[in-house]
Amino acid sequence: MSVDDRAEHLVLVGMSAHEVALADRVARLAGDRLATVAFLQVGDPSLSRELTRLADLGTGRVALVGVRLGASGPGASWLRRVAGHWWRERSGHRPEITVAAQLLRHDGELPTVLGRAVRPVTGREAGLASAAWQDVPGHRYQVLVCRGPRCTARGSDATAAALSRALVEHGQGDDDVLVTQTGCLFPCNHAPVVAVQPDDVWYGRVDDAAATRVVAQHLVAGAPVTEQRLPRRRGPARGLGWSHTSRGDQEPGAGSDAEVRGGSATVSPLREQRVKPDTGHGTSADQGREPRGETR
Ligand code: FES
Repeated sequence: MSVDDRAEHLVLVGMSAHEVALADRVARLAGDRLATVAFLQVGDPSLSRELTRLADLGTGRVALVGVRLGASGPGASWLRRVAGHWWRERSGHRPEITVAAQLLRHDGELPTVLGRAVRPVTGREAGLASAAWQDVPGHRYQVLVCRGPRCTARGSDATAAALSRALVEHGQGDDDVLVTQTGCLFPCNHAPVVAVQPDDVWYGRVDDAAATRVVAQHLVAGAPVTEQRLPRRRGPARGLGWSHTSRGDQEPGAGSDAEVRGGSATVSPLREQRVKPDTGHGTSADQGREPRGETR
């Protein structure tokens, strides 16, 4: 079965935070095909919201193609799980939905991906819950890696990858350090920005070398890296925090940054190495945490 029917609506789905930062490039992968873009995580619109929009329009058939532009991310099976969940929850008109088994990675590859196997969504797909995903991980540190637009433009994808690599090299797993990629963390001028909690230590200009130092010196040995550390100003302890724009230091003409802040996705460095890509269950950098005992 293939999805070369032109009447079918094509949705390219970014699989990880990496694709959110490269949304324009994702859209261009459609080539001369009409398509919309949605995201499995972090970005807007979500896959579920896009399916609802298309269903409300009366769309008869929808083809989902996952896009992975980075080195890693969840497998296409997650498209089926999320679409299957949507299918079960949806009341009213539901389009026929198919999911391409192969992820789209490069320009010009779409015809090949669409010409290969696709599977229909039936509502019998695996659910979104599992006993293996019940517990809050037992980590000592949570590391927030900013993947907002400014940090991403200055290489925070490489920062996240370097952190993951160094954590694996030091044998740090989910019960040691939980790495979470976020939207804008606010001190954009110091991009790429990383924050370590619960120590409340913020770092700026975290390139590959700095990321490696943060892992070895702070996350393993417990001593913050003073050279990269950003000053931390505390607001009044009244419960009403300050906002970025209220500080009066927003760039002239920058407009509201509200639309490019927020969102997160957690990374599991050790499991990232354990799970092969393209198994249909993959997880890894730029995407959700892989739970114990079950691949997603
Ligand atoms: S984009 Fe990273 S701190 Fe704003």
